[in-house]
Amino acid sequence: MKELKDKINRLKKEKGAVILAHYYVNDEVQDVADYIGDSFYLSQIAKKAEENTIVFCGVSFMGESAKILSPSKTVLMPEAAADCPMAHMAQKEKIQSMKEEYGDLAVVCYINSTAELKQLSDVCVTSSNAVKIVRALPNKNIFFIPDGNLGRFVAQQVPEKNVILNDGYCPVHAKMTAAALREARQQHPKAEVLSHPECIEEVLELSDYIGSTSGIIDYAGKSSGKEFIVCTETGVFYELVKNNPGKSFYPVMEHQVCEDMKLITLEKVADVLEYGKNEVFVSEELREGANVPLTNMLKLGK
Ligand code: 13P
Ligand code: SF4
Repeated sequence: MKELKDKINRLKKEKGAVILAHYYVNDEVQDVADYIGDSFYLSQIAKKAEENTIVFCGVSFMGESAKILSPSKTVLMPEAAADCPMAHMAQKEKIQSMKEEYGDLAVVCYINSTAELKQLSDVCVTSSNAVKIVRALPNKNIFFIPDGNLGRFVAQQVPEKNVILNDGYCPVHAKMTAAALREARQQHPKAEVLSHPECIEEVLELSDYIGSTSGIIDYAGKSSGKEFIVCTETGVFYELVKNNPGKSFYPVMEHQVCEDMKLITLEKVADVLEYGKNEVFVSEELREGANVPLTNMLKLGK
């Protein structure tokens, strides 16, 4: 593994590339990244990176968003097939009919979405800025796509808005049940519960803190608590354990894994760096359309 990591570091310099990784990728892939973070942080880095090549260790909407925000850069995906199922869970026809029904509608699109959905939207959000951005919008009526769980969480935080929910969901977070969480709390009665807003309502109701992957990591670092039950993908445990010797972190159930994120391996990172494989291309028309909500997010989410 050391040889492979050395090879990646050498190729990175030779090719003038920067490696971005989401917290859900394998630990050893996080090790070779120049930047690790949540979706909002990584999109900010993709926009301002000075290197000509971005290797994005994440799923396809992440690489696509990086290319849209930084069209002159080469964006490479270590695994082209790594996709987020939720990114496809909204329908163009439904968005059009909502726009016709509500005159002042703002379509708010979770960044976990295809560029085709983004181009039909007014603003993108991530789990770390969705509440802030929706609150700041002048519109009363909001159609929140594609994640119904994050949408409902935002609606509860911003009761002055009429947030219309869509029925998309993250299969990884939706699998974490309140029954499993109650059982984990019985086993660890002193633990605080840290949850991602992609979790179902019953899980969020039992949580002490709700936030993005970075939010969860920050909260655990600052908390005086010593034990935590973590309701999100297990990739975050690497950073949580590294940053917090003396604190214990427990999953809520046995397998809370995003298989798509785990498709990214060191071998694939080295391969795309060496051969320039899996470059992301977005048509200019689509790029222009999807760039508007993404740029609005960077402005409003700051
Ligand atoms: P954040 O890292 O923005 O919390 O997103 C979680 C996620 O599901 C990414 O796919
Ligand atoms: Fe998509 Fe869920 Fe995987 Fe995130 S964890 S990439 S939302 S399937």
